[in-house]
Amino acid sequence: MIDQLNALRAEVDAAELATPEAIEAFRVAWLGRKGQMKDLLAQFKDVPGPEKREVGQALNALKTRIEERVAAASAAGPSVELPAWGDATRPAGGIPVGTHHPLAVVRREIVGIFERLGFAVSEGPEIEDDWHVFSGLNFPPEHPARDMQDTFFVGRDPDWLLRTHTSSVQVREMEAHEPPMRLIMPGRVFRNEAISARAHCMFHQIEGLYIDEGVSFADLKQTLLQFAQAFFGPDTRIRLRPSYFPFTEPSAEVDVYWGLKTEVDKRITKGTGWLEILGCGMVDPAVLEASGIDSTKYSGFAFGMGIERITMLRYQIGDLRAFFENDLRFLEQFAGEA
Ligand code: DAH
Repeated sequence: MIDQLNALRAEVDAAELATPEAIEAFRVAWLGRKGQMKDLLAQFKDVPGPEKREVGQALNALKTRIEERVAAASAAGPSVELPAWGDATRPAGGIPVGTHHPLAVVRREIVGIFERLGFAVSEGPEIEDDWHVFSGLNFPPEHPARDMQDTFFVGRDPDWLLRTHTSSVQVREMEAHEPPMRLIMPGRVFRNEAISARAHCMFHQIEGLYIDEGVSFADLKQTLLQFAQAFFGPDTRIRLRPSYFPFTEPSAEVDVYWGLKTEVDKRITKGTGWLEILGCGMVDPAVLEASGIDSTKYSGFAFGMGIERITMLRYQIGDLRAFFENDLRFLEQFAGEA
């Protein structure tokens, strides 16, 4: 019987247990109610006394071996081949969602602040005529902004161009509507500039316009202070410096106090602590009249700011080109910004 058990042991060792079905069939064939072990135990009764000990040990060893093989094969799991797309039982990964572009985040926030102050949103065309971009805004014929070096003209006709500022939307609105009007006008503008860390041939502005009876420079200053404190924080201070624009009189540039705490603060404010954020002024009566508004009855203020500049300040972005390259490593940093 020892020889028989040795042969069976070789058989057990050689069995292929690659699938759950094969393991189960093996288990039933050896350990089941009608399995081989049962027969062997029945034969054991007839083994003569002196051989019992040796045969008994060999029988036990065979049974243990069978159980080991079943346990090992079951633990290893099915060695099925995975389809090319991988394991269907793996946990699902997150679904990548897009992020808002930083310029869109800041535009929405600025527009939202002015909407809460009672301004309505308006937009105008990017391809414009000379009147709405320059002449209607009091730019003299020889003004340098009209120069080929600044303005992109459309085709050969000097009357058609890409707007160089969103102030063109002011003219369209003043022509189309009677005061009172209180408008915020975001949009894309174009200038023939060499692309660098600080300049681009395409960028974004937000224009503001408020015309009614009795609008004063104090209203302008108060509105811009409200804006600056809503956007940069409640303790923000602003200052207005006299400036010049053809379409406003008087004109000013507005600075916010940025501080001089770090080396970067000193560099970006050129040691003054102040940073320019926008241009503004009282709409020149000649501009009101050119659009058919009675300047003896109405007065108004206007302002314009660059969205890129304000976004660079807010997020400490050093290079304007980052906004237009659409590098995901840049854009993904704004995930979660509403
Ligand atoms: N249009 C000017 C620019 O692009 C900005 C500006 C200044 C707009 C004064 C205004 C304003 O409405 O009143 O530089």
